[in-house]
Amino acid sequence: MKATRTSHATSLTLLDGLSTPIVVAQADGCIVFLNAALESLLGISRKQVVGSLLADLFIERETLIQAVGNAFGHQFATLKLQTTMQVGRSDTLGVELIFSIHDAEALFIEITPIDPVVADQNEVNKELLRNLAHEIKNPLGGIRGAAQLLQMDLSDKSLIEYTQVIIHEADRLQSLVDRLLAPHRQPHVVGMVNVHEICERVRQLILVEFPQGLTVVRDYDASIPEFEGDREQLIQALLNIAHNAAQALEERIADGSARLTFKTRIGRQVLLGKARHKLALELHVIDNGPGVPAEIKDRIFYPLVTGRAGGSGLGLSLAQNFVQQHAGVIECESVPGLTDFKMVMPLVA
Ligand SMILES: Nc1ncnc2c1ncn2[C@@H]1O[C@H](COP(=O)(O)OP(=O)(O)O)[C@@H](O)[C@H]1O
Ligand SMILES: [Mg+2]
Repeated sequence: MKATRTSHATSLTLLDGLSTPIVVAQADGCIVFLNAALESLLGISRKQVVGSLLADLFIERETLIQAVGNAFGHQFATLKLQTTMQVGRSDTLGVELIFSIHDAEALFIEITPIDPVVADQNEVNKELLRNLAHEIKNPLGGIRGAAQLLQMDLSDKSLIEYTQVIIHEADRLQSLVDRLLAPHRQPHVVGMVNVHEICERVRQLILVEFPQGLTVVRDYDASIPEFEGDREQLIQALLNIAHNAAQALEERIADGSARLTFKTRIGRQVLLGKARHKLALELHVIDNGPGVPAEIKDRIFYPLVTGRAGGSGLGLSLAQNFVQQHAGVIECESVPGLTDFKMVMPLVA
């Protein structure tokens, strides 16, 4: 269908019906439209700003000008940006922007205020994690010791594989917990890591726990270079995500049709927070399970949010925390039958 100017204008007024603040700009950076939700967020009227420069609404004008140029040039893959808006004469507001190019003429920007209360909440959450880490630390030594004793007495040596898993996992948790408790949590233990070695390790752990009915597919881009990272943290992050997927696949595991895919790709010109990266690692964990329950979908990365009876709700918040320490982010897209958790981390600054 050929869009005419009138149908364009009509479709813009439809944006007034949305509760998400949206601004529309054209390639020269001028504002074409802003919807009612944004008018009320900023306390300005459309008439005042249509035709003026989009960048003038923001504190970091240069960042915006650059981002708009990139968007029209289709130069980045992840179209998100965190920045600060001017509200009234003296107030500012932290926001997250999501860019989408409508056609060669129009850039739509969705604006989500970043809630300072949520930022505080993150601090509380970290405290909570530290307390929990203490609680986990204590019994771990006992678990490891018992597994060692058990191993010595095993008459069936083929069972040693299992006690080894217990001992190895107890050691891994121990070193993780130690780092959660470190006073100024050193960012991490950095070395060169190979993403596929990490995937293989996690695949092995998942298959020990779910030996039947689950197919784990590898779809690797072998050209991905090694990068600087914390191997233990990345294993834990990936394991938490893959473990959730396997748990969500319970029914399909029972009938043998469960499928979990580890997919690695290189992303180019990826925007993470405020920084643009030439190369980024994209690690997807895809499952064909029922999907993330709608009622918790927006909150799954917060601690203590769980959709499972007996769940701790810590897995994803810890994973997100670890990936953030690698200057990356985990995103999730989920519909019934296809859930995709994507870890994105810069490979080259
Ligand atoms: N692959 C997935 N498919 C469906 N739901 C998922 C998936 N991954 C996570 N979830 C949902 O997110 C919730 C939070 O996960 P997590 O933070 O690991 O905590 P927990 O596993 O202890 O519940 C899970 O309880 C589940 O409801
Ligand atoms: Mg979990």
